[in-house]
Amino acid sequence: MRLDRFLANLPHLSRQDARLHLAAGRVRVDGASVRDGQHEVRVFNRVELDGELLQAGKPARYFMLHKPAGCVSATRDAEHRTVLDLLDEPDKDDLHIGGRLDFNSTGLLLITNDGQWSRRMTLPGRKLAKVYYVETEQPIEAHYAQVFAEGLYFRYEDLTTLPAHLEILAPRAARLTLHEGRYHQVKRMFGHFQNKVTRLHRERMGSLSLDPQLAPGQYRALSAAEIADLE
Ligand code: URA
Repeated sequence: MRLDRFLANLPHLSRQDARLHLAAGRVRVDGASVRDGQHEVRVFNRVELDGELLQAGKPARYFMLHKPAGCVSATRDAEHRTVLDLLDEPDKDDLHIGGRLDFNSTGLLLITNDGQWSRRMTLPGRKLAKVYYVETEQPIEAHYAQVFAEGLYFRYEDLTTLPAHLEILAPRAARLTLHEGRYHQVKRMFGHFQNKVTRLHRERMGSLSLDPQLAPGQYRALSAAEIADLE
């Protein structure tokens, strides 16, 4: 919300008061005086007026989890354990997942309470690279690479997938780089060749690789640099 609206919404301040306080430099956001009413204020910011605390600001939290197979990328599930069950953190209701993985897929999953950050990351225009290690039932043939690079038509969504890069690593193993995240996209792309995916592991999202120190089920907080790199 804009800072001028945030101030004017307070029961003891009018819009005029808000304007005057801002112009006088009496409002501080995260310790710095802000005069611009259009400055965006979020639940994570500390806001003060003449030293009076208006909003304490809650900590923004960002985690990378090594998702194990056999758990759901959802915040609640009646039947199975969810990725949030793996986190030993307070206020888990505030957390959500940026870029889901299927029940049996493994690898890098981002979890945060910062909706703006995760939305930005998954915006279609963003084209963030997502890198998957894939194993299949049948041999992966060389011509898949061309088909994936040209894009595949998905009838259900009536769209053609963005160019994807396939690197064949072994007869039944490959690394696939996508720049979008359609429903079951990797499985559907190999499914085009009636080749079933037997293992799917996300290694990287944008500049962020899964930390090799994390065993399946383990997680850690992202560093400030990692958070900024993904913005
Ligand atoms: N594509 C899939 O098919 N499954 C995943 O979990 C991720 C990408």
